[in-house]
Amino acid sequence: MKKVNIVTLPGDGIGPEVTKVAVDVMKAACLQNGVEVSVTEHPFGGVCYEQHGVPVTDETIESCKETKIVLLGAVGGPKWDNLSADKRPEAALLKLRKELGVFANLRPINVYPVLADASTLKKEVIEGTDILIVRELTGGVYFGRPRFTSEENGDPFSVDTMKYSRSEVQRVARVAFEAARLRDKRVCSVDKANVLESSRMWRKSILEIAGEYPDVELSHMLVDNCAMQIIRDPKQFDVMVTGNLFGDILSDAASMLTGSLGMLPSASLGGENGLYEPVHGSAPDIAGQGVANPLAAVASAALLCRYSLHLEEAAQKIEEAIQSVLTNGLRTADLFTEEPGTTLANTKDVAQLLLKIINDTVEA
Ligand code: IPM
Ligand code: MN
Repeated sequence: MKKVNIVTLPGDGIGPEVTKVAVDVMKAACLQNGVEVSVTEHPFGGVCYEQHGVPVTDETIESCKETKIVLLGAVGGPKWDNLSADKRPEAALLKLRKELGVFANLRPINVYPVLADASTLKKEVIEGTDILIVRELTGGVYFGRPRFTSEENGDPFSVDTMKYSRSEVQRVARVAFEAARLRDKRVCSVDKANVLESSRMWRKSILEIAGEYPDVELSHMLVDNCAMQIIRDPKQFDVMVTGNLFGDILSDAASMLTGSLGMLPSASLGGENGLYEPVHGSAPDIAGQGVANPLAAVASAALLCRYSLHLEEAAQKIEEAIQSVLTNGLRTADLFTEEPGTTLANTKDVAQLLLKIINDTVEA
């Protein structure tokens, strides 16, 4: 049997609960495809700070670089909100993304037909939505220098820098163009080129390589308009490519199309490295209660199977199991609307059904 090693970083809040489900489901699906997954777990984020005084240790970063495949839960919580920037749980995540060089963050937004009623938006608007957001993840205002806080005539001020270079833009744009080739062959690049220098560089850099993808239709949209369009008519989008901050915001907005932020997986890719994490946060308010929706973490594990293990069958098996859970009417609290035929489920109920579906289809 083939063996693969991955690192898990369950992190804070609901992170450990949802990561456990994702790991169990992934192991089961991979076993069926002749691959044994073994897991090395490290503390990450707030829990790591409690143990080591830093949100991530060098050892953990090294371990992630070595295995190249990382499944992450979530980080952060009110307990660590007042720490200095470098000690905050979020700093660990940013450092890990940068160290792994995972510059392309893929956030697929698919509306499961059975959840079309769980969204706060009208069914006819969201039904059939299938968007791939490609968010640049290791540049932009998240990492730009200088970055500091100072004071001017007794008035404190802070500076962040939004910087994009041509090469940074073009490498992520290529990921978007390539992805579009396997889909509806349309890329919408989102920027703020009417105001920002870095956005004008963004647009120019994409236009420079667009000719290499004559089969893909390229359009440009300003980010404010895009925030409106994604709610008004999400079906107009196929692949969207955008910078770090805009992608962060637009993907939260887009998550509501699917009914819950608890449904959104992500894959961050760069070279041979893959970092997989649900888009949602650590949800400290519901942590430890066993009620968290594990489906975004599970769907992230499916992406791990697809992009890092190249086990398309296992990926599809997991994605079908997610579908079946929903079709069976199981809904964690974030999705529950008292619709007939649905039952309020906790994390464990969902986990058990996922595993049952995967293990029952061994011969299929
Ligand atoms: C995300 C999160 C992170 C981000 C935070 C936790 C640093 O919101 O992955 O979308 O802003 O990138
Ligand atoms: Mn975010």
